[in-house]
Order: sequence, then C-alpha cells, then structure tokens
Amino acid sequence: MTPDSAIDDNPLKDMDALDDERLATAAAIATPGHVYRDYAAEARASVKEFYRLNHTNQTLDFVLAKEQEFVPGAHGEMGIWEAMEFLNQLVDDSDPDTDLTQIQHLLQTAEAIRADGHPDWFILTGLVHDLGKILCLFGEPQWAVVGDTFPVGCAWSDKIVYHEFFQHNPDKDRPELQTPCGIYSDGCGLQNIHMSWGHDEYLYHVAKPYLPEEGLYMIRYHSFYPAHTGAAYGHLMNDHDRELFKWVKAFNPYDLYSKSPVRPNVTELKPFYEELIARYFPAKIKW
Ligand SMILES: [Fe+2]
Ligand SMILES: [Fe+2]
Repeated sequence: MTPDSAIDDNPLKDMDALDDERLATAAAIATPGHVYRDYAAEARASVKEFYRLNHTNQTLDFVLAKEQEFVPGAHGEMGIWEAMEFLNQLVDDSDPDTDLTQIQHLLQTAEAIRADGHPDWFILTGLVHDLGKILCLFGEPQWAVVGDTFPVGCAWSDKIVYHEFFQHNPDKDRPELQTPCGIYSDGCGLQNIHMSWGHDEYLYHVAKPYLPEEGLYMIRYHSFYPAHTGAAYGHLMNDHDRELFKWVKAFNPYDLYSKSPVRPNVTELKPFYEELIARYFPAKIKW
C-alpha cells in the first residue's frame, strides 16, 4: 500500500470532512458544549492523515513543478457549466443523505451571495470557486488539490493547521527557506509568493483572463486560512493585498456556512447561471 492509497481510493472522500472539521471547530467556539455532528469526530482521523501528506509533500520544488505542469490549456478546453458537470462525477457516496454534490455546493454558495444582493461577478465567483477541484479528475492526489493553503519558500506559520507535520517536509533542511521571508522580501506582495499547490491556485490561473481582480483574489486565497482567519503572513503583504483581502473575508462565510440541507434545484437555476456565465466567460476556456 502506498502512503497515498488509503485516502485516494475515493478522491473526494475527505473534502467535506475538511469543511466539517472547520465547522465543528467554529460551532464549538460559538456554542460551548455544542457538537456539530458525530461525523466530524470520525472525520478527524482522515483529516489528520490528509494534512500529514499535504505538509510532508508541499515543497517549494513541488509547487514550482505543478505551476509548470498545469499551465491553462495543458488539459484541453471546457465551458464553465461543462466543468461543473465534469466535477460532479466526483461524489462522496459514503454519506448520501447529507452530502451535497459539487454542483450543489457551488449553487448554494452562489445563491447565498445572490440573496444578499451582491454584484453579478461576486455571484459568479461563488459559482466557480471550487472548479479547480477537477485536478482530482486529472489524477492529482487529494493533498495536492484541497485543504488550507500557505506560502512555500519561507518559514511555515504556526497558524497553519497541523503545523507539526512540517517536520517531515524536506524544505525543513533548507535554511534559506526557513526565515520569515525566505526567498521573498518584506512586503513584496502576495502576487510574488508561491502558494502551496491546489484547486485555488489552479483555478486562479484558469479564470485570470475573465473575472475582476476582486473575484480572482477570492478564488486564489479562499483556502488561505492562516492569513484570512489566522492573520499570519502580514509581513509578505502590501497595501493592495490588505485592501483585497477584505473580499476574501467577505467570501468565506458563503463558502463555509451556505451548506444547507435544502438542495438547490439545478434544472431550475441552470438558465439563470448559464446567462451569468456567458456575461464573463466565452463558451470554452482553457484548463
Ligand atoms: Fe475550495
Ligand atoms: Fe467551496
């Protein structure tokens, strides 16, 4: 058995577990004594194993290689709705009564943003924000697709979840990567930082020609919990980052808390969203 095989048999199995863990933590903080649901406790072991693999393997060299491998166009062309349906093949069937499909999560996020009267590009950003998870369908292991993200090439913040697993990361033995700025400079701006590889960074590059900068920023950093929730890595940001991070924070509750048991009606919503997609994206884009 390879180290990855235990969680890679079902590529999306632990994706909801990651969010359940976060929701359980948020609920516990908000309501002492509250348990979100028993599943969260069971999920904890798989989440921990997920982060062991993620923190061990996300090195600077790994990220640089993935940035080259997944240049948009390397995996063909697809429309946005087509990509949503493609991603939807991946369903965690271990808990069919409560788990939303990927399309349903995207529609719930977008509908929650729409209900609050936000601009059309914000709604559209909600609709597409997780489409980078199709990396799973290109054969990438979970630890290189989902989970909290963090800069590589500099010291790991202790605000990163399961920080202790970085002791297994080979970059630990590269002193030039273990200072607060590492290969970067103070205040250099996040656009100059290599983030751990996953669906956020991948979709940012795919969507870059089409969405406003605020939307792209939300996509690129929506899993950067050490910064948007932990307030870490401020020393690498510039004023522009600080301004745009307000959008990342505005987006986060829609991603995390829009998970409702009421499933959106995909057929009814499709015409509205196809029209919205066509306002910003061509019929096919490069993946
Ligand atoms: Fe995501
Ligand atoms: Fe999401």
